[in-house]
Amino acid sequence: MSKHFFLGSLLLALAAAWNTDVHNQIGFMAEQFLEPSTISILQQILEPQYNGSIGRAAAWADGYAHTDKGRFSYQWHWIDSHDYPPQRCDLDYTRDCAEGGCVVSAIANQTEILRGCVEKVKTGLLSGGKNVTCSYALKWVSHFLGDIAQPLHASGRAAGGNFYKVKFGNVSTELHAVWDGCIPYTAANVSKPFSNQAIAPFFEGLVSRIRKDQFYSAPYMWLTCSDPSTPVECATRWARESNRWTCDYVYSRVNNTTDLAEDGYAAGGVPVVELQISKAALRLATWLNKLVGNVRGAEGNEYSADQQVVLEKR
Ligand SMILES: *[C@@H]1O[C@H](CO)[C@@H](O)[C@H](O)[C@H]1NC(C)=O
Ligand SMILES: *[C@@H]1O[C@H](CO)[C@@H](O)[C@H](O)[C@H]1NC(C)=O
Ligand SMILES: *[C@@H]1O[C@H](CO)[C@@H](O)[C@H](O)[C@H]1NC(C)=O
Ligand SMILES: *[C@@H]1O[C@H](CO)[C@@H](O)[C@H](O)[C@H]1NC(C)=O
Ligand SMILES: *[C@@H]1O[C@H](CO)[C@@H](O)[C@H](O)[C@H]1NC(C)=O
Ligand SMILES: *[C@@H]1O[C@H](CO)[C@@H](O)[C@H](O)[C@H]1NC(C)=O
Ligand SMILES: *[C@@H]1O[C@H](CO)[C@@H](O)[C@H](O)[C@H]1NC(C)=O
Repeated sequence: MSKHFFLGSLLLALAAAWNTDVHNQIGFMAEQFLEPSTISILQQILEPQYNGSIGRAAAWADGYAHTDKGRFSYQWHWIDSHDYPPQRCDLDYTRDCAEGGCVVSAIANQTEILRGCVEKVKTGLLSGGKNVTCSYALKWVSHFLGDIAQPLHASGRAAGGNFYKVKFGNVSTELHAVWDGCIPYTAANVSKPFSNQAIAPFFEGLVSRIRKDQFYSAPYMWLTCSDPSTPVECATRWARESNRWTCDYVYSRVNNTTDLAEDGYAAGGVPVVELQISKAALRLATWLNKLVGNVRGAEGNEYSADQQVVLEKR
């Protein structure tokens, strides 16, 4: 019994991802970049309780992973690299994706399922969110494109930083939790969770910065690989980008003897979190637009032009 209890608590502790409210917000951000045709298709895929909003649905996967029925999906939220940041960063899909799946394979699997669901809606075989496999696929894709942008979801050291003890705001915590929630809350200067019903001002601000190209890397560059017909290739690239941050900031700047809220670590992490969250949202929207629009093949110029329009719309 006690062993079970321990295992349960351990799983609970480890499954932390961007806090659930941050996942909701990434979904609400993505909604701002969806084409009307995408929105109307997704509305038929999602179960009615989400009212057609991927923002509202984007946090479901964390709760589901902790049910008996959903336990199989628990490990789909991350990929454990076999490297040692900050000395060495390296992520390899074939080597690092665990048996039973990882965030990269899960994105590929659920994207394929979702493609079939989009076809079902288009041919009138699906409406009103009646096929749960389809609704789950959309909820997982909306969640995992967020997770894969969190640096510690693409890092195996100390189980994604879950076993790396630090202090934040005078509270003992783990490095993983600092990136899931503490730094986003610092960035937004809030002390309570974000809404799970509507976009919050901080995330509106990120949407506006995406449209105005106010990041140090240009948003169209984030979409270099964003074709849902090559999901393993794209998701692996995104994971490698996240993994790179574990060498370039997460572990190279961390100090486990000082308070990360005070020693400059959180402040320095804010731009990283803002960038990664913004990438996740724009990639999610682009992914879904392409799935619905049936834009296939390699990065077509035609599509890039469309995307440019989406970005410039106010
Ligand atoms: C559901 O969405 C529609 C528009 O998409 C909106 O007008 C309506 O207020 C929403 N209902 C709820 C309960 O959020
Ligand atoms: C793909 O997802 C389905 C559930 O949606 C699951 O049953 C199946 O095991 C998954 N396959 C892989 C290879 O992850
Ligand atoms: C739901 O959709 C999935 C994926 O397209 C399909 O395999 C399954 O047969 C559908 N279920 C029902 C009851 O139509
Ligand atoms: C941090 O905690 C210590 C004791 O645990 C306390 O003395 C100190 O006032 C706290 N500092 C802040 C800024 O809350
Ligand atoms: C953060 O919020 C507090 C109160 O909510 C306010 O006093 C402070 O000026 C804010 N700081 C920044 C940097 O916006
Ligand atoms: C961590 O901070 C302490 C106290 O400021 C300092 O003495 C130490 O050199 C720092 N360690 C690293 C690895 O930067
Ligand atoms: C800080 O990290 C070092 C190196 O990872 C470790 O040896 C040490 O035990 C840690 N200290 C605390 C207080 O956690």
